[in-house]
Amino acid sequence: MTASKLIFEKIELDFSFREFTFQSGINKLDRFFYEYSSKFIKYGYSQVYILRDAETPDVMGFFSLSSSTIRWEESLEIEKITRYVPGILLGMFAIDERFRRKKFGSDLIKKVMNIALKFSKEIGCRCVFVDSLTKPETINFYLNMGFKFVDIPLGKRIIKNLANNEKIKRRTIKMYFDLYKIQK
Ligand SMILES: CC(C)(COP(=O)(O)OP(=O)(O)OC[C@H]1O[C@@H](n2cnc3c(N)ncnc32)[C@H](O)[C@@H]1OP(=O)(O)O)[C@@H](O)C(=O)NCCC(=O)NCCS
Repeated sequence: MTASKLIFEKIELDFSFREFTFQSGINKLDRFFYEYSSKFIKYGYSQVYILRDAETPDVMGFFSLSSSTIRWEESLEIEKITRYVPGILLGMFAIDERFRRKKFGSDLIKKVMNIALKFSKEIGCRCVFVDSLTKPETINFYLNMGFKFVDIPLGKRIIKNLANNEKIKRRTIKMYFDLYKIQK
């Protein structure tokens, strides 16, 4: 399936999610898209962005962003200034199953970086954080985009388990992208 003209936009409060078609195959993400995003936007908990087809109801993907901090840890390749590192949380992010492996995900992450960089010029913001699903495609994807594990030994264990097809108890693992890598 090839998309015609694409629109990337920030969702406004009057956006009618039900008029669009989006399915990531992950219940939590699909429910967020259809049922919760409006509330998150309305109450200032997140901003939500989508990439969609201009002529059809197809949504290629979406993401939500919120401000956030994580506790500084020895393993972070970031100077310790205070106990917390400021950043932006990529809270929800998914590409529709029909549009996977076409670089839409990579393109949307680049949009996230651009928004975060712009934000960092106004307000202290060193990183983009994400709680990555512990699925091979998701971890591969984030590593590919330059994200790192906050807890490196845990990340290594999860990669080893995935390679050996072993069951992983944790659903998510925290990762970060250091904006200084693209700022300088
Ligand atoms: C993870 C996800 C966002 C990737 O989006 P995408 O548009 O399919 O990814 P891209 O086409 O930009 O892929 C970029 C790279 O990521 C890696 N990757 C993506 N999908 C992969 C898969 N199924 N298996 C292994 N590696 C994968 C590859 O290295 C790929 O590069 P390549 O195609 O040149 O080999 C998408 O699979 C998705 O929405 N998954 C379900 C929801 C999810 O995991 N969301 C993140 C929540 S934290």
